[in-house]
Amino acid sequence: MQSFLFHSPMQVFFGKREIARIPEILLREQGNHGRVLLLTDTGVAASGIPQRIVEQIKACGFSTELIDTVPREPYSTDVDELVDSVKNKKFDFIIGVGGGSVLDTAKLLSVLLVLKTATVESLLEKGVSEKGIPSIMVPTTAGTGSEATPNAIIVLKDKQLKVGIVSPFLVPPYVVLDPETTLGLPSSLTAATGLDALCHLLECYISKRANPHSDLLALEGTRLIFTSLHKAFIDGSDVEARSNMLLASFYGGLCIASSSTTAVHALSYPLGGAYRIPHGVANAILLAPIMEFNRDAVVERLIQAAIRIGISPKLGDSDLSIAFVRTVKELVQSLKIPSRLSEFGIKKENIPELTEQALKVSRLLSNNPKPMSYEDIKSIYERIL
Ligand SMILES: [Fe+2]
Repeated sequence: MQSFLFHSPMQVFFGKREIARIPEILLREQGNHGRVLLLTDTGVAASGIPQRIVEQIKACGFSTELIDTVPREPYSTDVDELVDSVKNKKFDFIIGVGGGSVLDTAKLLSVLLVLKTATVESLLEKGVSEKGIPSIMVPTTAGTGSEATPNAIIVLKDKQLKVGIVSPFLVPPYVVLDPETTLGLPSSLTAATGLDALCHLLECYISKRANPHSDLLALEGTRLIFTSLHKAFIDGSDVEARSNMLLASFYGGLCIASSSTTAVHALSYPLGGAYRIPHGVANAILLAPIMEFNRDAVVERLIQAAIRIGISPKLGDSDLSIAFVRTVKELVQSLKIPSRLSEFGIKKENIPELTEQALKVSRLLSNNPKPMSYEDIKSIYERIL
């Protein structure tokens, strides 16, 4: 049996209207005093959810500042500038309310405010040496699972490269999963973020680092996504589908914390870094071709996944792993997200450079169940051009 270690948040609140519990968490941690930074982005701020949280915590005596300027898929310099703008304000607590970019930024900020002289690039070089100020993460998309992971993903502007900072100190102590915060998510984002969660679950399930803990979560999370992603895409107000997706996304994050994503995320990073293709969309484009590439190395695992989601073989399928890969492909197609790299301005002559960049993501490629050569990666990019 594969040995494993898993990290997880200390307390997780799940359910409708659980954001109302945030003041209670603060009171327990801080008494009724302290300065709280609430970090979000303009899209989430437009929903009014962060402002509601601010009102609730102000009513309990906390001094609060709301910053809604976190950019989508931030550069390391964006995070450094944010740290510079708040470091003298002596915040005791951070609340991140948003998608993966906001939560990753909040996680980095929590440690950078303690390690006063550090920058994001110095964390990349030297690692994270201490835990940050306490934090609560409130995901408003169901995809990245950032609320459960020890990772923070940022883009290095000069290298046009997307990279991950990984440390147990980045696992937040408190998480609030309230499906009502995801009800306003547009269908295109529901699709892209939901497929990102599916990638986390399936990549972790077939990863060389898969283990009994991650398998348990990966199979159940995959079942939840096949039950609910299309429903949430068609009807964003379906609270049960939204709840299932939020749970599946959280399970995906927990899987990452004990197993690892593999080739989909490795090949996706250069697409996000150099061409700014949204993370979930890049993963969605890559998912089916990479499942097809890996299938013969993980037939038994995919058969188990097929059984779990209750699919049957078609005439001519030699086994259920083929039916499973086909079902994944059909789900991606049904969600109407872009399917070709050329839609993002990528040309054939760009593929060698993309391939070189993907090969550098050895942290993830080394966990793929099948080795991937330069030619393997190049031919996958060519197939989806
Ligand atoms: Fe992801």
